[in-house]
Amino acid sequence: MHRVAAIGGDGIGPEIISAGRTVLDAASERFNFAIDWVDFDIGSERYLKTGELLTDEDITGLETCDSIYFGAIGDDRVRPGILEKGILLALRFHFDQYINLRPIQLLHGVQTPLANKTPDDINFLVVRENTEDFYVGIGSRFRGAEKRSLEVIRNLYSVKFGVDAESDAEEVAYQIGLITREGSERVIRYAFERANERNKKCSSVDKANVLSDIYGLWREVFTSVSKGYPDVETEFTFVDAVTMWFVKNPEWFDVVVTPNMFGDIITDLGAMVQGGLGLAPGGNINPDGISMFEPIHGSAPKYKGMNIANPLATIWAGSLLLENLGEKEAAAAVLKGIESSILAGHVTKDMGGAQSTSSVGDWIAAQIRTGA
Ligand code: IPM
Ligand code: MN
Repeated sequence: MHRVAAIGGDGIGPEIISAGRTVLDAASERFNFAIDWVDFDIGSERYLKTGELLTDEDITGLETCDSIYFGAIGDDRVRPGILEKGILLALRFHFDQYINLRPIQLLHGVQTPLANKTPDDINFLVVRENTEDFYVGIGSRFRGAEKRSLEVIRNLYSVKFGVDAESDAEEVAYQIGLITREGSERVIRYAFERANERNKKCSSVDKANVLSDIYGLWREVFTSVSKGYPDVETEFTFVDAVTMWFVKNPEWFDVVVTPNMFGDIITDLGAMVQGGLGLAPGGNINPDGISMFEPIHGSAPKYKGMNIANPLATIWAGSLLLENLGEKEAAAAVLKGIESSILAGHVTKDMGGAQSTSSVGDWIAAQIRTGA
């Protein structure tokens, strides 16, 4: 029995999670295990009503679960950053889900915008660090007097703008990226483990040519971890260059490991390469704790309640969830079901089909039940 928390969240979140649950329930029937779903009312509606983002009660409840299935958050009525930081990032940090695993895989039947690339060419894993870097939330904005304490900023102002930074007129903002040896070690080690069981190549993405302190440390750790994996080929790439290679030569990549913010950016590019955000799943993983699985797209508020959103990224995230719970056969059957729905054209409008969100879920569930 697996106890799984369901957080529908905002916008299309509840609909896609509902389609995902239908599929996961079918997989559990076919492969003889049970999922005990626990619903959590977390998201913008509750926030607007009560001012609560994540309560102690939510956390205690989630802590009794084996895994979390997460829809989406984001609502035009709430200032950007509140829900993202107060819910999604808060969960990733609280459960120390230090790996953000994002497979970039072109399924059969899916159109990639890259000319002449096939499913054989586009099949790699991005392992994004998920708790450090510019996401640690250290930063500030201020004016005038307080600024005096920061000699470096004062110099910058006078050298660059020829103005006196002590006057109250100027405003300064900063945000600090933070990398720790332990934090990078554990995620890089995970990436090497995955590479070792795949095609034995691990690429580091960073910007050590400019941000040489934090990403210098990252590189040092990458090099030292790599010594334990003599069979895995390694390479260093800069984040700007890697955006070119993802487009030009996706077949070069096997496992890509990257600090948090670059990982955020390059996985949106990866999503396009694999056929669109509608097909991009992600797992926030703590190998020794509670992991959380979600589509990497947002809440698409304008499609809320219309039953037209593409549920495939969420269903795929469900496959990652099952794999993480050790239900490998079920996970593979769910992915196969997704591929069958695409090949059969039983998909939503964004993929050229005419199906609703729920009907895609029902169809894949039926395929899985019959063992097709
Ligand atoms: C993602 C999202 C989040 C992130 C936001 C919503 C906080 O863009 O999961 O990629 O930046 O990690
Ligand atoms: Mn993102």
